[in-house]
Amino acid sequence: MSGAVEILRQPRPMQRWAEAARLRGERIALVPTMGYLHEGHLALMREGWRRASTLVVSLFVNPTQFGPNEDFGRYPRDFDRDLRLMEEADVSVVFAPEVESVYGSGFQSWVEVTKLTRGLCGARRPGHFRGVTTVVAKLFNIVKPHCALFGEKDYQQLRAIEQMVEDLNFDVEIVPVPTVREADGLALSSRNACLSPAEREQALALSRALFAARRLAGKGATLEAAINEAQAVLGAASGVRVEYLEAVDARTLEPARNLGAPVLLAVAAGVGKTRLIDNVVLAARPSAPSARA
Ligand code: PAF
Repeated sequence: MSGAVEILRQPRPMQRWAEAARLRGERIALVPTMGYLHEGHLALMREGWRRASTLVVSLFVNPTQFGPNEDFGRYPRDFDRDLRLMEEADVSVVFAPEVESVYGSGFQSWVEVTKLTRGLCGARRPGHFRGVTTVVAKLFNIVKPHCALFGEKDYQQLRAIEQMVEDLNFDVEIVPVPTVREADGLALSSRNACLSPAEREQALALSRALFAARRLAGKGATLEAAINEAQAVLGAASGVRVEYLEAVDARTLEPARNLGAPVLLAVAAGVGKTRLIDNVVLAARPSAPSARA
């Protein structure tokens, strides 16, 4: 079923709506987005509906998570298209504030998760995760959700938000949702819209490299061999400027030495003017049952 979606543009009315919904006994799911929705966002919404009785989607291109030389201005936007998709997904309320109503002129309070955001994208995008955790904390205070859904494609973001919720006692269940991919492996991202057809083809090197490493690890290879395999695929690809390819403990995000515990293999690369990220979790092959048992 689908119909007209209620659009709220200011924090106060959104808070009042959430309070009333809670008083009626509703369970609120929140899908935070920066718009230009794709099948990955729709998967978050479907999961939200499975877990709650009402679904809020926030649509806000958050300026504080973009560095001065990043693509805030170029980030794809199409409110009417997003609205159509949200109607089809039966979203209850869209929270789509203007920048000024989220960040007042005297704004000076930040939420920062320190350790988990030091490496990977955090090392290359100073201030990015501080912007993310600050806006997500604000969204939790404004939308008052019982649960919030985040994609595993932005794995470091997901871990930072989980940590923030634990450290600051937010009463929100964080629900991770697996990365959604095109049939050829490309991880869905709003930024894919910025790729030319030739760049889109080049971008496939990211998932191919990660899948090659995962295949090898699944056959019992060492972490080192799996990383070498991914590096070889990326090295042979044209038009891909690798920013990092790193293997870290999937929970702590500290450098991983072996496959004793689940390892996140994460990649970031520039393709044309677009920065893309992707990841897989590598798990050691479970040891074969002992022949003598
Ligand atoms: O993943 C995103 O789209 C954004 O980082 C988020 C979580 C909506 C915060 O702006």
